[in-house]
Amino acid sequence: MIIQTPRTASGSATVKVWDLPTRLFHWTLVLLVIAMVWTGWTGKLDLHMTLGQAVLSLVLFRLVWGFTGNRYARFSGFVAGPMAGLRYLGTLFGRPGPNYVGHNPVGGWAVLAMLGLLALQAGTGLFTSDDIVTDGPLFSKVSGSTAALLGSIHRRTIWVLLAVIAIHLLSSVFYLTIKRENLVTPMITGRKTAPATLEAQGGHPLLALAILAVCAAVVFGGIALVK
Ligand code: HEM
Ligand code: HEM
Repeated sequence: MIIQTPRTASGSATVKVWDLPTRLFHWTLVLLVIAMVWTGWTGKLDLHMTLGQAVLSLVLFRLVWGFTGNRYARFSGFVAGPMAGLRYLGTLFGRPGPNYVGHNPVGGWAVLAMLGLLALQAGTGLFTSDDIVTDGPLFSKVSGSTAALLGSIHRRTIWVLLAVIAIHLLSSVFYLTIKRENLVTPMITGRKTAPATLEAQGGHPLLALAILAVCAAVVFGGIALVK
């Protein structure tokens, strides 16, 4: 259930919303995506392919964390139907408008879109070649025409991904300037002002570390085994 609170809820305190693993996931992903675009465009492909497998591991981790993290990290806490999303868009310019503790219904779609695009980008990268010296680790496992198709998806999807990231960044600016709500600081500190009863429990970092270790073993180990 997506949790909505009145803007000035009585008895408000700063409560824990984003668990540490979700915050570390986010800021590590930001650094990795910058590194991926830089290494892809400058042809530093050995580093690109190693970091790309780290991106895949992180995305896999986030999928599992969507069932095991705290209530605001869980998909059940932020994935809403299309009608809820449209209703929220209709209230976007209202003042003060509904206030969500976790991701709002449209933000929830953006999260899914970014994770899906990252999975597609990193997944197709495994089969991509620069047709000169560097082949993705699974390039030789598919036919030439399939590899060509996946490579062209890899070279095009990046633009869709960058467009969605641009919208993501602009929406943070929109919330800060128009709606006067700072969403970025909570992604750093994990805390927001809300009724104390909405404090999130769970999302233990040691559990996250164990899940991440398994995800990395599946991705790096699986690719090494298959190639
Ligand atoms: C490569 C760039 C980026 C990517 C791929 C990205 C991706 C994501 C993802 C996947 C989430 C969902 C977090 C989760 O629930 O696990 C998220 C949330 C968020 N991101 Fe980013 N992000 C990027 C850059 C940034 C930057 C530079 C900022 C700050 C200016 C930022 C601010 C936020 C905020 C505030 C949220 C929480 C939104 C909310 O309150 O619902 N992101 N981002
Ligand atoms: C989210 C993760 C990824 C991003 C954002 C990304 C981004 C990029 C970009 C921007 C390029 C340059 C495309 C061009 O020259 O037009 C590229 C090329 C390439 N990528 Fe990725 N990539 C990712 C994951 C991967 C992975 C996991 C692998 C393989 C393990 C991979 C293998 C390659 C190869 C071999 C090329 C060279 C293709 C060429 O020169 O035409 N990438 N990638």
